[in-house]
Amino acid sequence: MMEYVIVEINDGIALVTINRPKQLNALNKQTLEEIGEAFEAFRDNNEVKVVVLTGSGEKAFVAGADIKEFADFSGAQGTELAKTGHMTVFNIIEEFPKPVIAAINGFALGGGLELAMSAHIRIASMNARMGLPETSLGLIPGYGGTQRLPQLIGKGRAFEMLFSAKMIDAETALNYGLVNHVVAPEELLETAQKMASSFMKNSIVAMGFVVEAVNAGMLEGAIGYDVEVQAFGDCFETEDFKEGTTAFLEKRKPSFPGA
Ligand code: CAA
Repeated sequence: MMEYVIVEINDGIALVTINRPKQLNALNKQTLEEIGEAFEAFRDNNEVKVVVLTGSGEKAFVAGADIKEFADFSGAQGTELAKTGHMTVFNIIEEFPKPVIAAINGFALGGGLELAMSAHIRIASMNARMGLPETSLGLIPGYGGTQRLPQLIGKGRAFEMLFSAKMIDAETALNYGLVNHVVAPEELLETAQKMASSFMKNSIVAMGFVVEAVNAGMLEGAIGYDVEVQAFGDCFETEDFKEGTTAFLEKRKPSFPGA
């Protein structure tokens, strides 16, 4: 029985809902483990043809990694956190042999946007807001964001989002190609389900090979993921990280010492 993830399988679609609404569905260790377990169970389940990933409530898809959980981590623990995330969730979703659609129903920030970007396709509701705010915490994205964001929207736009730490709205995300479609909040799941049903008419085996081939092309120069994992850990040894996370937890603006 999972605590933070709800799985419903209907008509070939596995709907995965991340369910920690009080923390805006922030990804703590257990939630990540449960997402990983859910995907492993779908792999050989013939009843699952397409996976739809969403967040519970109307406010957030996922507001990022759980800042409270890692605020006192060392550099080595930070590197380990990123590495485990890559291996057990984010790479698993990206390489999943069945289509994965993220239905972004609100804030998708940091690890939340990284989760959506590891899916093959993103659909956003009009109220969705997306960003990689890590530099405002003295940190960098650690779940593939430094690689997948530029792959999806190009380097210039990615640098602007990474340096500014600002959120973009759904229309801008559509314009950037970060999401495929924007719909009214009440139509989000239906749109994702319709898309999933249309995919299911095609060969599931062939779609698995599509994922493999598309990803192989993207993985040239994949050393970037390793650099991200190491640099994410290095951030934890900085004064800026301590100030950034402390400021978040104390609900104030950070004043970075720059060291
Ligand atoms: N981690 C832990 N708790 C979080 C959280 C997070 N990422 N995001 C939100 N929460 C918690 C808040 O602390 C708050 O808890 P309390 O009620 O106990 O105080 C609760 O969720 C509701 O959030 P807010 O009161 O802040 O809601 P808001 O409407 O005022 O603001 C928000 C919404 C702008 C999304 C704001 O919550 C926010 O900025 N969240 C953090 C976003 C962020 O920085 N994400 C990146 C995390 S780092 C990361 O993801 C690293 C990585 O790549 C691996």
